[in-house]
Amino acid sequence: MRVLNLGSLNLDKTYSVKHFVQPKETIQALRYEEFCGGKGLNQSVAIARAGAKVYHAGKIGTDGERLLTFLKQAGVKTDYIQSTDRATGHAVIQVDETGQNNIIIWGGANADISRGDIDRATEVFWPGDLLLLQNEISNVDYAIRRAKQQNMKVVFNPSPINDAIETYPLELVDCFILNEVEGRCLARVDSEEPDVILEGLKARFPGAEFVLTVGEKGAYFFDGEQTLYQKTYSVGVVDTTGAGDTFCGYFLASMAQERPVREALRMASAAAALSVTQQGAAQSIPDKKEVEAFLASQEEGGD
Ligand code: RIB
Ligand code: NA
Repeated sequence: MRVLNLGSLNLDKTYSVKHFVQPKETIQALRYEEFCGGKGLNQSVAIARAGAKVYHAGKIGTDGERLLTFLKQAGVKTDYIQSTDRATGHAVIQVDETGQNNIIIWGGANADISRGDIDRATEVFWPGDLLLLQNEISNVDYAIRRAKQQNMKVVFNPSPINDAIETYPLELVDCFILNEVEGRCLARVDSEEPDVILEGLKARFPGAEFVLTVGEKGAYFFDGEQTLYQKTYSVGVVDTTGAGDTFCGYFLASMAQERPVREALRMASAAAALSVTQQGAAQSIPDKKEVEAFLASQEEGGD
């Protein structure tokens, strides 16, 4: 099956700081760099580096050529990326000494994706092909409906979570890939227990499958019957930006290649771990060979 990823394309303005800037405080950044990012772009790069074929649909402005070049070099099909006069979307990111981040996004061209753009991108796909969506572009709700009319399989990563998500036709989603915060919100539960979150999600979306990541506590797959657990690999943390996207993209590549879920979780978890050892989002995503070598070294270590 083919993968269409309809998602954001951002320029990541990344500031390394000693600590996150506080109210009324002005601080000097230790380092500044502009990386290629956007949850959409990061996930497409992860899918391609995992060895699966992916078409990216989205929008850039006149200042976004670099993102296009980056995607092409990563092996992503860019035929459905359009241009607009609006500025390319961007993110302002602080990365602190512990590798944690906080992010402000500005939609720019990502907020200019129309229903017509979505029609043009989806119409060439077939029943059973995968549509991957995050929550950083306009008309996500329309995209879900449009893809289901064509019997595509819809995978939704509800990130970043916001109130608008509740207006989307979520009952049409076939698979959710989400973190703890997103899971709690969509399951409408207060608990931090993965089991409770997964049961809540299942009760609300009975037909769907779920992949729930809980940071250092690992990841779960739940299809209403079986639950699979995958631990998080521990590594030296440099920059966690895009780790969730790396996980998501790798998992999706395995779905597209119809690999066993257990293997999909292992690869995704290892790829995400490797990505946090490097600066930046997309550029820190490892390829399949690196992930396999890492997993082999983990096994040798008696793990
Ligand atoms: O998930 C990380 C991404 O979130 C960054 O690349 C940034 O662009 C924001 O979209
Ligand atoms: Na990284």
